[in-house]
Amino acid sequence: ADVFTYDPGFTSTASCESAITFIDGDKGELLYRGYPIDQLAEKSNYLEVCYLLLHGELPDKATLDDFIYRVTRHTMVHEQMHNFFRGFRRDSHPMATMVGVVGAMSAFYHDSLDISDPWQREVASMRLIAKLPTIAAMAYKYSMGQPFVYPRNDLSYAENFLNMCFSVPAEPYKIEPALAKAMDRIFTLHADHEQNASTSTVRLAGSSGANPFACIAAGIACLWGPAHGGANQACLEMLREIGTVDQIPEYIKRAKDKDDPFRLMGFGHRVYKNFDPRAKVMKESADEVLELLGIEDNETLKVAKELERIALEDEYFVSKKLYPNVDFYSGIILEAMGFPTSMFTPIFALSRTVGWISQWKEMIEDPTNKIGRPRQLYTGATARDYVDVDKR
Ligand code: CMC
Repeated sequence: ADVFTYDPGFTSTASCESAITFIDGDKGELLYRGYPIDQLAEKSNYLEVCYLLLHGELPDKATLDDFIYRVTRHTMVHEQMHNFFRGFRRDSHPMATMVGVVGAMSAFYHDSLDISDPWQREVASMRLIAKLPTIAAMAYKYSMGQPFVYPRNDLSYAENFLNMCFSVPAEPYKIEPALAKAMDRIFTLHADHEQNASTSTVRLAGSSGANPFACIAAGIACLWGPAHGGANQACLEMLREIGTVDQIPEYIKRAKDKDDPFRLMGFGHRVYKNFDPRAKVMKESADEVLELLGIEDNETLKVAKELERIALEDEYFVSKKLYPNVDFYSGIILEAMGFPTSMFTPIFALSRTVGWISQWKEMIEDPTNKIGRPRQLYTGATARDYVDVDKR
């Protein structure tokens, strides 16, 4: 009989070889193509990081300008796609809309579906990186009952996204450069994270030869779960539910109780067992943004700070190596910027699109690639004879 290795949750199985992202969970180290995440967050910008993830090297100035030009040319979505949005219930969660609309891209962009053609793969990548902010912003506008705002190619990637989310015809959005920078940093910190659940989903979907839009839609669907990308929304909702600092001990008690399914959202990570290096940068960004906006003594923030302090000293969290992760701080920044919690995971999705597409591309270009097909340990009934319905 066949013998299989049983590894629930794939805690010790490498599913692929990859040269894109390196994580050392014990050291709290994260490298994109060899470059430390904190250096990229501080000195680079999201589109340069996109180029780096996709192509493996930092671009020279002319190459970067050309890349930005190509991404920018693809920011609009087909006008007919507007009708597709309108088919959703008006109060749809933007993630629900995004899963559908991104999947529908394969019905609109027939000239980038042939995955055996490098040029088509490149165009599909450009389209996804360029259009995801437009689609996320449209999903938001639709959920708010506000008119869609077209992309503006004179703005940077982050400025354009903020403008598409917050401009209304009656009042154009005033872009604050420091907020655009913080937005860009959130995109950068989420750009890739090796073989997490959604990336593995994209690779598995792509291993069958499915088109890139279908694969990214699958990734978005997986990301939505509260144990993964949905944690940023769940974390802020938890902070609000806790409400005041004096309620924290009660929630800490619940998180430690084996019989209570409650977990502290925004804490813990499968790989990081020291600290999440993204959380470190995100925390600095949160402090800057809150100071800039003058909202330092907001109640949610007080709860967040105190919760972090208590958890970092608590024996349970210390012994299990549970540290605040990237999602603990990103929600605080996004809320301060004016985003509703329902937009937190869409923002994660648009940021991660470049990681998904880079990993997909790496897999497609690997000649040893074959369809992902895990086996199982069968625990069901042994062979038995069918019994007619009147004899059961
Ligand atoms: N609060 C309380 N206890 C926790 C938590 C938490 N947030 N996370 C893990 N534990 C406990 C868990 O109960 C288990 O205890 P025991 O060994 O006694 O059974 C132990 O710590 C190990 O947890 P696990 O679930 O086996 O670990 P995992 O690697 O499967 O899960 C995780 C990692 C991120 C899903 C988990 O820590 C979690 O659910 N965290 C909250 C959700 C969250 O913030 N997710 C965002 C992750 S970062 C961004 C992203 O990936 O999208």
